[in-house]
Amino acid sequence: MSNKATLVHLKHYINKKNRIMIKGLFIPIICGLSVLLASCAGSQKNTGSHSTPSLKKIFEKDFVIGTALNTGQIEQKDSTADALIKSQFNAATPENIMKAEVIHPQWDKYDFTIADKLIEYGQKNNIKINGHTLIWHSQLPAYARNIKSIDSFKTFFAGHINTVAGRYSGKIFSWDVVNEALNEDGTMRKSIFLEHLGDNFVTEAFRLAAAASPHTELYYNDYNNEQPAKRAGCIVLIKKIKAAGVRIDGVGIQGHWHIGKIPLKEIEESILQYSALGLKVMFTELDIEVLPRNFSGADVNQRMKEDASLNPYVKGLPDSVQQQLANDYAALFDLFLKHKDKITRITFWGVDDGQSWLNGWPVRGRTNHPLLFDRNFQPKPAFYKVVEAKKNFDATKKGF
Ligand code: XIL
Repeated sequence: MSNKATLVHLKHYINKKNRIMIKGLFIPIICGLSVLLASCAGSQKNTGSHSTPSLKKIFEKDFVIGTALNTGQIEQKDSTADALIKSQFNAATPENIMKAEVIHPQWDKYDFTIADKLIEYGQKNNIKINGHTLIWHSQLPAYARNIKSIDSFKTFFAGHINTVAGRYSGKIFSWDVVNEALNEDGTMRKSIFLEHLGDNFVTEAFRLAAAASPHTELYYNDYNNEQPAKRAGCIVLIKKIKAAGVRIDGVGIQGHWHIGKIPLKEIEESILQYSALGLKVMFTELDIEVLPRNFSGADVNQRMKEDASLNPYVKGLPDSVQQQLANDYAALFDLFLKHKDKITRITFWGVDDGQSWLNGWPVRGRTNHPLLFDRNFQPKPAFYKVVEAKKNFDATKKGF
């Protein structure tokens, strides 16, 4: 056989062998894939089924369990997410769609399309809606940021609260009337509201909201307001509102904390101090950051530069971190249960890790894992630790 003929023969042989190989592999691969797909579909269904314990049921007698909802979730775009929401949560806060830039995009134009859908979703599914938020320095529409005259600003301020709170009066359970008015040292944050209206703007916002929506619970909401200095400022603010004879029903501690650094002592002290003022206490935006960060809290204006070293868990959480996250959540729920008579709601800032804002803040494009459900809507070890916390709590109660 010539060299050329050997080569052709060899090629033919390899081709044939490959085909045989492919044929041999093809059937097992197809079988394997279908088993995998079937099990994925099965486990996805699982999230909404009876096999996964339901947080809202487990904590039924303690506090309501909330989540933040985005537009897709309100419009029920993803059936797995939707089933999970309906089975796990009995409270919800819109993640963005009630913020001024969305609901009041122009001076003389409001857009209630998605907010109305949210209210309907809540009514249909027995989910208490917490409006978020009437007055906040961030996510303001451009025209509002550019108002120069104090009179025009007052018109915007009162018109916004009257119109938005008024529309949902009798339909919404509660409002975060003012969000994040404080600095870390407890002084008033420099904002367009402070600049144009002075520090009375907080009381005025509550006065207007109470008039527009008399049967809706009204809250002040902030991050790090469990920390002593900010908490002291928050208490001054609450006392001022009350001294003016204006109604405030509760205080929200956002709860954007960091793995291994949950300030349990300060949280407990805050629950006691806020409830001593006669207010309901809520944890309103709970998530636990697992990625590197050089500051605490949740100031949306604070950012860090992108860097691969800041994104270590793209392929998933290592076991030790997963366990730490679970233990942190368990410790938090132990504390929440201990003070369940003072706490009315625990809201997670998102349904699953894929939705979390912490994938994009303070560093863009990270893979974060701060919640109880992973990107496939599956309960994480932290979820089961939270369930266990309740079991342990009930068991010790029975012991007495
Ligand atoms: C966040 C949303 O989750 C993001 O989608 C958005 O881009 C920025 O705002 N404190 C709050 C929330 O009160 O409204 C913020 O939500 C997170 C910090």
